[in-house]
Amino acid sequence: MATSTATRGQWGSRMGFIMAATGSAVGLGNIWKFPYITGQNGGGLFVVIYLAAIALVGLPIMIAEIMIGRAAQASPVGAFEGLSKPGSPWSLIGYLGVATSTIVLSYYSIVAGWSLHYAWLSLTGGLSGLDVDAIGNTFGTVHASPGINIGWHFVFIAITSSVVAGGVSGGIERASKILMPALFLLMSVLLFDAFSQPGFWPAVKFVFQPDASEISAAAVLEAVGHSFFTLSLGMGAMLTYGSYLPKDTDIVKTSALISVLDTVIALVACLVLFPVIFTFGMQPQAGPGLVFKSIPIALSQVTGGRFLSIAFFFLLFFAALSSAIAMLEVAASTLIDRRGWTRKRTCAVMAGVTFVLGIPSALSGAGGFFEVGMEKTFGRSFFDLFDYLATNWALPLSAFFMAIFVGWVIPAERRRAEFADTNAGRVIYTVWLTTLRYVCPVAIFVLFLFATGILPETWLGKAPE
Ligand code: PHE
Repeated sequence: MATSTATRGQWGSRMGFIMAATGSAVGLGNIWKFPYITGQNGGGLFVVIYLAAIALVGLPIMIAEIMIGRAAQASPVGAFEGLSKPGSPWSLIGYLGVATSTIVLSYYSIVAGWSLHYAWLSLTGGLSGLDVDAIGNTFGTVHASPGINIGWHFVFIAITSSVVAGGVSGGIERASKILMPALFLLMSVLLFDAFSQPGFWPAVKFVFQPDASEISAAAVLEAVGHSFFTLSLGMGAMLTYGSYLPKDTDIVKTSALISVLDTVIALVACLVLFPVIFTFGMQPQAGPGLVFKSIPIALSQVTGGRFLSIAFFFLLFFAALSSAIAMLEVAASTLIDRRGWTRKRTCAVMAGVTFVLGIPSALSGAGGFFEVGMEKTFGRSFFDLFDYLATNWALPLSAFFMAIFVGWVIPAERRRAEFADTNAGRVIYTVWLTTLRYVCPVAIFVLFLFATGILPETWLGKAPE
C-alpha cells in the first residue's frame, strides 16, 4: 500500500529543511573523520583536493539527488520507479541506498556511542586527575569493552529512533533546529579557545598550505569518497529529505548553502583539533583515535579544559545524532511509503534491526571472531569492513548511477521543471547539467579504476603508505 503525497510529511519552512539537511551533512564525517584523514594525508594539498571534489562532484550530485526526491515526492525506491520506465532496474539504486544507510548507521552508532561515553566521562569527572598516559589508554579500554560499546550503541539508537518516530517536521525538523545552532555555538567557543593556543598558526599552515610532495592517488581517492560521505550523498538520505520539499524551494541555492556550511564546519573542526595537537607536540597522523585520545589529553592540560571537553563531546554527539536521524529516515520513509506501516512501528522495527546489525561492529575491538577472525580472513575488523564497503564502493557506485539517471535518463522536461526559470537559472542549469553528465561520471569511473587496481594507485606519484 502506498501513502499518498498529501499524507507524507513536509518541512515546515525552507529554514527547517536547511537545518535538517545541514544536520544530516555535518556529522562524525566532519569532526571525527575529516581531521584525521587530513592528518594522515599530510594536510594542505589534501584539503585542496577535497575542496575541488566537493565543488566538482559533490555539489552537482547533491542537486541531482535532492531533485530526484523532490520531483518524485517519494522515498528512494519509489522515486526511482516513478521517474523511470516500468520494470526498469533503476529502483535497485533505491534499494542499495536503503541497505547502505542501514549498514552505515549500525557502525556510525558505535562511534557516536564513544562520543556519548566521553561526554559522560567529562561530565562526571571520570577523566579528571588522570595522567596523560592514563587518559590515552582510556580509548583502548573503551574500544575493547563489549559492555561500553553495546550499551552506548543501544542508547544512541534509542535516541535516534525516538526523534525519527516524531515525524518529519515534529521530530526531525524540530530536533535539527535545536541541534544545529547548539553545534555552531559550541564550535565557535572551541575555535575561540584554539585561537589563543601557540599551536594555532602552525595548524593553519598545516591545513591551508599545500605541499606537493604529499600527493598520492590514494589521497585523491579518499578525498572524493569522503566528499560523498560528508555531504550525505549516495544513500538516498538527501533524496528522502528532498522529497519533503515544497515545489517552490530553490534546490541549487539550498544545495550550495548546505555544501558551504558542511565544508566550513569540517575546516573549523581542523582548526579546533590541530592547534591542540601542535601545541602539545602530538602526531597529526594518529588515525581514528585522533579525537578520542588527543582531545582529552590536550584539554586536561589547559584551564577550563573540563568544560571544553564536555562541550566538545556533546558537539560530537549532536553532530552524530542529526546525521543518524537522516540515515534512519531513509529506511523509515521507505517502509512507511511502501508498506503503509505507521511511523512508530517502523521506527521500533528499524531500531531493532540496526541495533542487532551493529553488535558485530561493537565487538570489533574486543578480540575474538569479530576482530581477530575477521582480520585474518578479510584483513580488517568487522567495523572497518562495513566502513570500507560503504564508503569506497556503495556510495560512489550509487552516486555514479544518480548522476547518469538525472543527467541522461529522466525526461528533460522533468529535469528542467525543477530549476528557476530565469536567465541566471538557465546558465546555472547548463553548467550543472554538463558537469553532471560528463565530469561526475568520468571522475567516479576513474576512481573505480584505481579502487579495483586496474590503474595503479602510485599513478600520481607517492605510493600509499
Ligand atoms: N554526512 C554525514 C557525516 O559526515 C554522514 C551521513 C551520510 C549522514 C549519509 C546521513 C546520510 O558524518
